[in-house]
This record gives sequence, structure tokens and C-alpha cells, in this order.
Amino acid sequence: MSKGLRKGLTSYGDAGFSLFLRKAFIKAMGYSDDALDRPIVGITNTYSDYNPCHGNVPVLIEAVKRGVMLAGGMPMVFPTISIHESFAHPTSMFLRNLMAIDTEEMIRAQPMDAVVVIGGCDKTLPAQIMAAASVDLPTVVVPVGPMVVGHHKGEELGACTDCRRLWSAYRAGEIDEAEIDTVNGRLAPSVGTCMVMGTASTMACVTETLGLSLPMSATIPAPHAERVRLAEASGKRAAEMAVTGGPKPSELLTPAAFRNAATVLQAIGGSTNGLIHLTAIAGRVGHALDFAEFDRLGREVPVLIDLKPSGQHYMEHFHHAGGLPRLLAQLGDRIDLDCRTVAGGTLREVAAAAEIVPGQDVIRSVQDPIKPEGSMAVLTGNLAPRGALIKHAAASPRLLQHTGRAVVFDSVEDLAARIDAPDLDVGPDDVLVLRNTGPKGAPGMPEAGYLPIPKKLGRQGVKDMVRISDARMSGTAFGTIVLHVTPESAVGGPLALVQTGDQIRLDVAARRIDLLVDEAELERRRAALPATAKPDWARRGYARLFHDSVLQADAGCDFDFLVDRDGAEEPA
Ligand code: FES
Ligand code: MG
Repeated sequence: MSKGLRKGLTSYGDAGFSLFLRKAFIKAMGYSDDALDRPIVGITNTYSDYNPCHGNVPVLIEAVKRGVMLAGGMPMVFPTISIHESFAHPTSMFLRNLMAIDTEEMIRAQPMDAVVVIGGCDKTLPAQIMAAASVDLPTVVVPVGPMVVGHHKGEELGACTDCRRLWSAYRAGEIDEAEIDTVNGRLAPSVGTCMVMGTASTMACVTETLGLSLPMSATIPAPHAERVRLAEASGKRAAEMAVTGGPKPSELLTPAAFRNAATVLQAIGGSTNGLIHLTAIAGRVGHALDFAEFDRLGREVPVLIDLKPSGQHYMEHFHHAGGLPRLLAQLGDRIDLDCRTVAGGTLREVAAAAEIVPGQDVIRSVQDPIKPEGSMAVLTGNLAPRGALIKHAAASPRLLQHTGRAVVFDSVEDLAARIDAPDLDVGPDDVLVLRNTGPKGAPGMPEAGYLPIPKKLGRQGVKDMVRISDARMSGTAFGTIVLHVTPESAVGGPLALVQTGDQIRLDVAARRIDLLVDEAELERRRAALPATAKPDWARRGYARLFHDSVLQADAGCDFDFLVDRDGAEEPA
């Protein structure tokens, strides 16, 4: 039952007076009693001049409000912080948990019977869903949607897989300054999120799979009228949920729903960041994501979506081919179709209603997959006792089994200072190692895992090398890159022990990553590690909270005090 403005009244002995006060103040905005006595749907506003991905948020808010009012509810818009990938120092990941806290507390603090969260740029949907899962108020998620594609010299361009490819071409001297300037204006041709299968698109697909958003919400391009209508429908649905009181996130976020999301993550060739975020969301409802099961799904679930960075197409093509409902239909019994959604029914109805688009080649069938195996594998070994991740769908097949000499960089700064040095001792078969880039190390686990190919090797035509770090990587990047090495070097993980010249063996088929140095020598190096002092950046404020509370990648990098303790894991 909706409580409207009565919700969360602090009565101090006179609830009637508290409501009287609330109404007296809110009436300053011109609201009538008729408006104020209705079920309230809160709507987050994450518009920011620093967040071009969210440039359509004002239009979506208006549409959600219209939907809420058409269904007889009262919409109330409120601000939360907004995070864009390129404008969040030191990293957007550093701020994800802050946004989750902000969103959670503002939903809790203000009277509302249901909430619509509107987000999209990489860390925003995870933050909002983590918040919603913890509050457990009926929630509809409205992704802002992907950008439309760009065009250059007859080619389609996408942010930001092609940003990297073309910048590499510029670094290698293959295109000139005038052309790279032209390209700069064509890579992000509209508002909305990166239109490749990067983290934003991945999390929008995960959100739709978890049943937290309406069908097709992941793929409708941001500038399309259809997205505005989706926002209106989402507002309507939220107003109904405000009255009925459900479904709540806890009713949707079941173990089966997380298995579905992990299956979709593999089948879309999703971003490696998706696993961290999914783990964090699961932790909010007391559910530990099983990495062994995720890896097993990776061996069984084929990649069916042909999208960059591992394939050919872009999100709008996925949309016009039938979107996520069509993918769910293709995955068939690999998906638990009994899982419920905010639309009111189950994924079975969503899959049954999926459009069939003759001749489309973006969403493949299980019989004719892009790749017979999923996109990601979980590695363990003496270099990553609690796991590491590789997106082998975006790697060079010849490097998936490789032993090479380590070339170690101690930090992002060390990497920047030396990677392009003409006298750097490095060859094409070496393994580039970057450390102190994990959750605590950098801080905020920057997307530094995509180490650039040293300029002198790039000029010789080397396009890929094995690269290993405790960092993350942009979901839009490509290469043989081992990420999320856990525990990270800054907390004494084995990555801290590697020395230039050591041999490292990567064996993706065996799911192993090993440092070929004997245990006695590793023990000697471990004993010689300097004691860790609290770094300068962590002395005060949010940075201190982050440093003292952030968990490792295998717990989704959430804060230890935000995880649901009742059933959840408790890693170091
Ligand atoms: Fe916002 Fe890529 S920068 S989604
Ligand atoms: Mg990204």
C-alpha cells in the first residue's frame, strides 16, 4: 500500500503535525492536496554538464513523469551524483560506491512508494542497482540508451573501441594529425552511452536480464522516440508498483536471476567490468556469485551477439535485430525463463514476444554461434590465488597459451614514463606486467589493464601481447589481457613479487596463470617486501573511507560495510 508523503514521518510524538509541516513546505512549489495524497514515485536526476552520456536525461525524466501521472501517481524528481567515465578523477570506479551510497540514502530519506532510476554511463547503473537492492523499494531502471553509430570514410565508428584502434593507428604513424582531429568529432555522434558492447551496454543488458527494466530497454538508441515512450511506460509501471508494493528488487534478484545474468554476460561477449558489478549487486542481497560456475557457463554458453569489440556491429543493430528478448529466446533453456520482471510477468513472456527479424545476422542461434564458447574465463594459479579474468573472445588465439619473460611496471606512472622509451628492453614475446593498479593500489582500480604496446614494437607491426595486471580494462578494449589479479599487489598479492626477467605462463585452456619461480624464492621476496603504510591520498574524506573499506575484485569492490552480511561472503 502506498504511503505517499506519510512515509518515514519522524513524529516526535505528533505525526499529524509532521505531515502538516511537510505539506506546508512542499505546497510552496504549488502542489495541491490532490497531487500530494497520491502514491509517490521518486525519479533520480543524474543530468550533469560533465556527463554527455546522460544528455537525454531531462527528456526521459519528463516522459517518466508523464507515465506516472497517466497512471494516477505523483512523480517527484530528486538529484543524485552523476559519474562519467572521462570526467571522474582518479577513476569512475573510485566513485561508484559513493554514488551507490548517495542514491541509497536519498531513496531512504525522502518519502516515495516506488522509484525510477535513470542512468547508463558505465558505473551509474551498477551504483543505482546496488542502492535499489539495499533499499528494496519497488524500482524500475531506465537506461539512457546507447549512442547511434558514427561514420568516417564510409566506415562505421563506435565509441570507444574505434577510439583506441584509430589512436593506435595515429601512434604508429598510419594516419595523420588532420585525420585524427576529424575522427575526434565523429566517434560520439549523439548523447547516450558507448554503442559497442562496453560496460554501459553490458550492464544495460544485465539489468534487462535481471528483470529490473522493461523489455528492449537495453538497446533502444538514446536519441530515438521509442526510448522516450519506454520511459513513459516505465513511469506508468512504477506508479502501479507504488500501489501494489511490488515486485521489490529482492523478489527479482534471485540466484536464478544472477545465473541468467552471468549466462547473458558470456553470450553477449560482455565487458569484464560486468562481472565485478554483478558480484557487487549480488553481495547487496546476500548472494555470493560463484566464479567457478561463471567459468563453467563460459565453457557452455556460446557467444551469440556479433558486436564490437569482439565482433562487427553496434548496439543499434542489436536493437533492430530484436534486442535482448530475441537473445533470451535464442538461449532457450540455458535461461531460467520463470524469473520475474518489473513488467509484471516472467522472462518466458518476454522471450515469447521477441521479434523475429528475417535475415538479421547480429543475434545468432546456438547452432550458428559467433564463438562456440563464452567470452570470459576465470583463471587461477600462483599469480592469482583468488582469481583473475580474461576476455578471451577479444584476445589473439595464438597467445592464449603462452610463456614469456616478464617486463614489470610498478605503477601507472612508471608505465607512462617507460613504455615508449626507445631503450626499453622488451620483445614481442614478452609479458607486460603492471601492478599497484588494484582497488586500493591506484586507487579505484583504473582501466589501466589495456597496457599500450610499446611504441617501438607497435612500429614493427606488433598488435597484441600478453598483458597482466590487477587493474580493470575498458569494456571497449581488445587484446590478450589478464585483469583483476586478486589479491592485488598493494595488499601483498603475488603480483608484488614478480621481477623483470621471470617467466610467466598463461594457459587459458587450463584456466591457469602462473609465475614460474620456485616457492622458496617467492618466500624470500615476500619477506623482503616493504611494510605498507597508509598512502597520502587516503588520509581524509571519502578517499580514507574508500581505502579502509573497499573489498577486492572477487567481492565486487564494494565497501565491506555495504555488503549484506546475512548471507554474504566476507573476503579480506
Ligand atoms: Fe559513458 Fe562510455 S563514456 S558509456
Ligand atoms: Mg567504459
